[in-house]
Amino acid sequence: MKILIIGGNGTIGKKVAAALSGHDLIIAGRSKADIQVDINEADSITAMFRQLQSVDACICTAGTGYYGEFATTTEDQWMPGIKGKLLGQINLVLIGKDYMTEGGSFTLTSGIAAEQPARNGACVAMINGAINSFVLAAAQELKQDQRINAVSPGLVEDSMERYGALFPGYNPVPMQRVTNGYLLSVLGAVNGQILKVY
Ligand SMILES: NC(=O)c1ccc[n+]([C@@H]2O[C@H](COP(=O)([O-])OP(=O)(O)OC[C@H]3O[C@@H](n4cnc5c(N)ncnc54)[C@H](OP(=O)(O)O)[C@@H]3O)[C@@H](O)[C@H]2O)c1
Repeated sequence: MKILIIGGNGTIGKKVAAALSGHDLIIAGRSKADIQVDINEADSITAMFRQLQSVDACICTAGTGYYGEFATTTEDQWMPGIKGKLLGQINLVLIGKDYMTEGGSFTLTSGIAAEQPARNGACVAMINGAINSFVLAAAQELKQDQRINAVSPGLVEDSMERYGALFPGYNPVPMQRVTNGYLLSVLGAVNGQILKVY
């Protein structure tokens, strides 16, 4: 299976890539990747898919959102995450569906914040919730037996050092449980699911 992993060099993405290592993997990112893409830019996404011509599965583990004090936060702080993690992933589907083989799949990444927002995490909570809603809707619209799911990870154990302080009281999730969510989405038959791993 020809599997595109955007963000495949990141904390979660590199473990997803390892779990899918028997397949024809293409790792995409802004740097040090098999193919360069910036999901913030629709033209960049189009150029990537044109170069690849077709894929059997598209996984995205790229993108983030703003964390900061709610009382003083502004639109300017929220826009990069909306443009990147939210619209970037949506554009991967809107553009990528024309390059996706029959029966192929999209797997987006949201996160636990959609349901259990951390303090200072309103932006990320909103983005993750919107991704989940997009997946529910897009699953009804995709043609050619194409499927779409979101993996919604909790705080993964590999990220405790980086993000643990932002999420006091959150239970770290073993990485294998998270990578299994991606395997279920890509290799299984599930469609229109929010695969919660927390
Ligand atoms: N880690 C966790 O505990 C956790 C928990 C819940 C949800 N999540 C979500 O899971 C996803 C992955 O998290 P992570 O911790 O693995 O992130 P990460 O370690 O920061 O990795 C992100 C990857 O995406 C690439 N990337 C970033 N921006 C990009 C862009 N605009 N275009 C293309 N590639 C881009 C990065 O490579 P380049 O910089 O080279 O482009 C990097 O390889 C995120 O959506 C995050 O919000 C993570």
